[in-house]
Amino acid sequence: MKLEKKELAWERYYDLSSQEIGELIRYPKMGRQLHKCIHQLPKLNLSAHVQPITRTVLGFELTITPDFQWDDKVHGYVEPFWVIVEDNDGEYILHTEYFMLKKQYVDEDHTLNFTVPTYEPLPPQYFIRVVSDKWLGSLTILPVCFRHLILPEKYAPPTELLDLQPLPVSALRNARYEGLYSAFKHFNPIQTQVFTVLYNTDDSVLVAAPTGSGKTICAEFAILRNHQRAVSGESNMRVVYIAPIEALTKERYRDWERKFGEFAKVVELTGETAADLKLLDKGEIIISTPEKWDALSRRWKQRKHIQQVSLFIVDELHLLGSDKGHVLEVIVSRMRRISSHTGSNIRIVALSASLANAKDLGEWIGATSHGLFNFPPAVRPVPLEIYIQGVDIANFEARMQAMTKPTYTAITQHAKNSKPALVYVPTRKHARLTALDLCAYSSVDGGGTLFLLGSEDEMDTFTRGVEEETLKNTLKCGVGYVHEGLSELDQELVTQLFLAGRIQVCVASSTMCWGRPLPAHLVVVMGTQYYDGRENAHTDYPITDLLQMMGHASRPLKDNSGKCVILCHAPRKEYYKKFLFEAFPVESNLHHFLHDHMNAEVVVGVVENKQDAVDYLTWTFMYRRLTKNPNFYNLQGVTHRHLSDHLSELVEAFLNDLESSKCVAIEEDMYLKPLNLGLIASYYYVSYTTIERFSSMLTQKTKMKGLLEILASASEYAELLGRPGEEEFIERLVRHQRFSIDKPKYGDPHVKANALLQAHFSRHTVVGNLAADQREILFSAHRLLQAMVDVISSNGWLSVALSAMESSQMVTQGMWDRDSVLLQVPHFTKDMARRCQENEAKPIESIFDLAEVGVDEMRDLLQLSNSQLQDIIEFFKRFPNVDMTYVVRAGDDISTGDNVTVQVTLERDMTNLPSEVGSVHAPRFPKPKEEGWWLVIGDSSTNQLLAIKRVALQKRARVKLEFSAPPEAGRKNYMIYLMSDSYLGCDQEYEFTVDVKDAGGD
Ligand SMILES: Nc1ncnc2c1ncn2[C@@H]1O[C@H](COP(=O)(O)OP(=O)(O)OP(=O)(O)O)[C@@H](O)[C@H]1O
Ligand SMILES: [Mg+2]
Repeated sequence: MKLEKKELAWERYYDLSSQEIGELIRYPKMGRQLHKCIHQLPKLNLSAHVQPITRTVLGFELTITPDFQWDDKVHGYVEPFWVIVEDNDGEYILHTEYFMLKKQYVDEDHTLNFTVPTYEPLPPQYFIRVVSDKWLGSLTILPVCFRHLILPEKYAPPTELLDLQPLPVSALRNARYEGLYSAFKHFNPIQTQVFTVLYNTDDSVLVAAPTGSGKTICAEFAILRNHQRAVSGESNMRVVYIAPIEALTKERYRDWERKFGEFAKVVELTGETAADLKLLDKGEIIISTPEKWDALSRRWKQRKHIQQVSLFIVDELHLLGSDKGHVLEVIVSRMRRISSHTGSNIRIVALSASLANAKDLGEWIGATSHGLFNFPPAVRPVPLEIYIQGVDIANFEARMQAMTKPTYTAITQHAKNSKPALVYVPTRKHARLTALDLCAYSSVDGGGTLFLLGSEDEMDTFTRGVEEETLKNTLKCGVGYVHEGLSELDQELVTQLFLAGRIQVCVASSTMCWGRPLPAHLVVVMGTQYYDGRENAHTDYPITDLLQMMGHASRPLKDNSGKCVILCHAPRKEYYKKFLFEAFPVESNLHHFLHDHMNAEVVVGVVENKQDAVDYLTWTFMYRRLTKNPNFYNLQGVTHRHLSDHLSELVEAFLNDLESSKCVAIEEDMYLKPLNLGLIASYYYVSYTTIERFSSMLTQKTKMKGLLEILASASEYAELLGRPGEEEFIERLVRHQRFSIDKPKYGDPHVKANALLQAHFSRHTVVGNLAADQREILFSAHRLLQAMVDVISSNGWLSVALSAMESSQMVTQGMWDRDSVLLQVPHFTKDMARRCQENEAKPIESIFDLAEVGVDEMRDLLQLSNSQLQDIIEFFKRFPNVDMTYVVRAGDDISTGDNVTVQVTLERDMTNLPSEVGSVHAPRFPKPKEEGWWLVIGDSSTNQLLAIKRVALQKRARVKLEFSAPPEAGRKNYMIYLMSDSYLGCDQEYEFTVDVKDAGGD
């Protein structure tokens, strides 16, 4: 009461100290209490960033920073708020969403991303209002001003689909080629329209058309054209096909290997440089992801094969705007640049979904107006009916639950006559639950076999081998499900049953939309959000994923039309209406990722000074979009001045970062020189931030525990997604590992990486999503460790380098350095290793000891079957038995300060091996691993590493190592080490002595 009379604005109370409040109410004792209460009222600070996506849609990024004291008694575990966007006059609500602030994240910033419609002319401002759902007076209003907003340029109209006579397959005029398309007689209208320019010219072409329009065959026209020219000697045949998702490259490889295998050598790149160079050499159709091609083509100046690419096909080009699209952008820019540099004509054929700004993309890849096709989303060869349904429930799980009935109804209504229906759900858990729910509904309606299209007995035989119990049961109702956690076999079986029309319904987790061919009559997208662990929030699927899902509702030759039902959170309905019926624009996000790309270009000498860096940018798609949608790229105007200032600022900013992380040196404020750390980052395709972290965290004294922590801290692991409920599991996992983690945050992806690496070494099995994460972690571990070895050896630290090499062995074999090396032998358990060690006749400790034991004795000792023993014998043949000899050149005539040269010869016992060594025996490593070795010379008394070389050893290798003799004369002892990167227990070390004379005296 007293206070109200003072008429003090509420905001002012925040500035008062407890003492002042006490004085204000003339009751000093209450001052503190009241102060506390004031600061417990949920207060949020807001800031917003607005970017136009199109002329009628604005993208908002709202950052919410909590600014109050959390007290469990007052606030409980969550504080809910409403986020509301109002128009200028406060008349209309343009967007609402529910925001839950959880106790554990009260000290963090929260980012919400959403879109809001607008109209022309642009209103002066909108208001964002965030209101507490519980508290009176907890309200924040943020005006968002549009005065400086520049809307993107208008888009060119799409390509009209002409009413042409469908082109018969015989138009190829080549019997062999025609044989490839025996499944149908005519090309579809889109293929017909693009045929001439693709098959009869060598121009670069962009074909943008909705999913399922048969674009793959459009690209094949260009391949056949290339093949024809190669046969007649007019061109060489080196076709590169890039798809930005690994599952797509796998699918394409399978398909084209079958289709073109007789015409041309089809290869898929592996990601290991040495192997890929060989594939590139012999391959005629080379299939790759953007990352693999980036790593390989960076050194295009030295690699003739890259310059000789004749046709470069980029599929799903619209993914350029997605998270990893920057790599796609960089490689396409590079191919354009190579083409102009060498004067060779590298033909680029790009395929994409329908685009709003196709013209920019087309011009960027070098397509002229007659090679630029941008068909609108509506012109599918099989028309698509789209229904969008909103469900107005704020809680995610409750909303998902409420969607099952509409899903069931959609199937019974839209997929009549047993036509196949595909349902996409956010996660594997939902896949299982939804399949069960659908079975339950069908049992109420039709006795449980509504969706089963064959007989029950028949299904029993099919499902006999199914590993997952629940799946077995749902299949019996005619409902299958697929997700990334199922075994490859189960996934394949469900796919086959669905394709063969034995089950009517298949539920798939959202990530399965890429690369698994599951055509259906009806696609139901059940919910359009997934849980994003990085943001601790539910995030929308990218539009590109939604389009891909919808694309599955297309069965040419079978259906006259397809259907798609999208169930989403009610407030999102308008947004989807806009973007699923209209083409969407693609913007670059290269400006967020320039560091690593630019570092790589400095390393290979393509960018030598700041001007080169600016020139490099002019080849990118980003450059073309800067003036078209300036605000998106944080540009305030579109004049030439704005542009050139912006580019210089951009270049200045990332070069400074590269300089301060010691990757690049800038001389005379102009010239760029790669530094050691920059070289290492580029060579191993590792982020410059990782290398910087390695370099600052490693010390001469780092032990295994520290080494693993540093490895797990790599930026590459920051992308591991957290999932709801996972933290507890990680906590339990961490508690059972050899090394504890200091102050662990269980939601931190680096803690997860550390725990999963240790679990791998301890052979603790993890399942499901964590197993998938573990695979990802192991995939990059060798690359990171090799980079680490290079960072360490640049510092000349011997023992840490050897530990890092041992870590590489541990990663390959899935065991600790202190475990018995016998655990690498097939079928071996810890118990068997112990029995070997305690063997009476003679303790068996090494692999070589074991190999000397006779088969009979081994059978007795280990109780193994004949086939198991056979596996062990096979393993012995492969286990490297290397003979190492070395000579110190002119060893008796070395003076202080001289260079000492050591010539090493390695010879491998290949008696029982075929001509090639082949990949490592590493059943615990998730993909084939090639053998690699390090040769190291060190001084163990001072812990100094003096020389190091990496060696790829087949039968024989000769390697020269050099180091400087010490400045003082006398006899010096050195060690030479041969270290494997894959096996434990085959490393070798020898001591040698050099007699160093005084250079001055006689
Ligand atoms: N002329 C044709 N007649 C009948 N079927 C065709 C024809 N051309 C392509 N198809 C079939 O259409 C399906 C979709 O083709 P494709 O995968 O090439 O589409 P897309 O445009 O690449 O779609 P996405 O955007 O999903 O990659 C394939 O199963 C293909 O075999
Ligand atoms: Mg395609």
